[in-house]
Amino acid sequence: MSAVTLIDGKAAAARVIAEVTDEVKVFKANGIAPALAVVLVGEDPASQVYVRNKVRRAEECGIRSLEFELPSQCQAGRLLALIDTLNADASVHGILVQLPLPAHIDEHLVLQAIAPVKDVDGFHAANVGGLTQGREVLTPCTPAGCLRLLQDTCGDLSGKHAVVIGRSNIVGKPMAALLLKAHCTVTVVHSRSTHLPELCRLADIVVAAVGRPRLVKGDWLKDGAVVIDVGINRLDEGGRARLVGDVDFDSACTRAAAITPVPGGVGPMTIALLMKNTLAAARLQHSSVDRSQPAMEIPA
Ligand code: GUN
Repeated sequence: MSAVTLIDGKAAAARVIAEVTDEVKVFKANGIAPALAVVLVGEDPASQVYVRNKVRRAEECGIRSLEFELPSQCQAGRLLALIDTLNADASVHGILVQLPLPAHIDEHLVLQAIAPVKDVDGFHAANVGGLTQGREVLTPCTPAGCLRLLQDTCGDLSGKHAVVIGRSNIVGKPMAALLLKAHCTVTVVHSRSTHLPELCRLADIVVAAVGRPRLVKGDWLKDGAVVIDVGINRLDEGGRARLVGDVDFDSACTRAAAITPVPGGVGPMTIALLMKNTLAAARLQHSSVDRSQPAMEIPA
């Protein structure tokens, strides 16, 4: 068995960011300054870090960023009013509300309030529906990043059997839709599935996104499988904080042909694809700009 290849998400993300930075210049030459609004409700430290990283990365690409922080006890009406204002502001192209929201706020209601053309997360039902129909719409960033890593690693994915572990709206379900669109055979398994190891062993591609530290063991993998680990689990090991994925990295390396490390795999791609989506959203709102890019549909 030849050595495993580590899929370098940082390098792949840097390539996407370089593309975005060039495209931003084209927008600016056309008099449009792409802008992303990021909204954080509450004081969750992990969410604060994610939001800070998104804002910082946007600025590095030349995308204007607007940051809004609301207190955790704020009423849904205040958040919905802010979204209405951002929807109506023609200088704002993308709107992202960081999840999870405090329990008293209805997440679905909030995500449905974002104008589909500004929905850089791809979570609005119009975009979710478009994706499942195989159309070109704004697509959730993490699965879009995973797909890019897979295409960089494997080339054409047509006919490959992909097993997606996890059925969340943020990763598992859109990942399955994207892999179907790329002509894979797709099996979705989740926390209630039986025979997980046997099902995984059928896979040419495993995407693990269940939030269970080191769930996927090396002997769950077919020799030569390509493994994308979306998990970011914080473990306390002997008093030291450690980030681990949903895949048991060491044992997986004895079977896989290629694997994403945690950290440094999928994580950097999520933010890079958010920047790409911000430009795609700006393009939807200014269809005269940059016709060299593939057209996306304006959802109803
Ligand atoms: N929380 C965890 N992942 C995400 C994401 O991709 N988008 C948003 N808005 N919140 C998240």
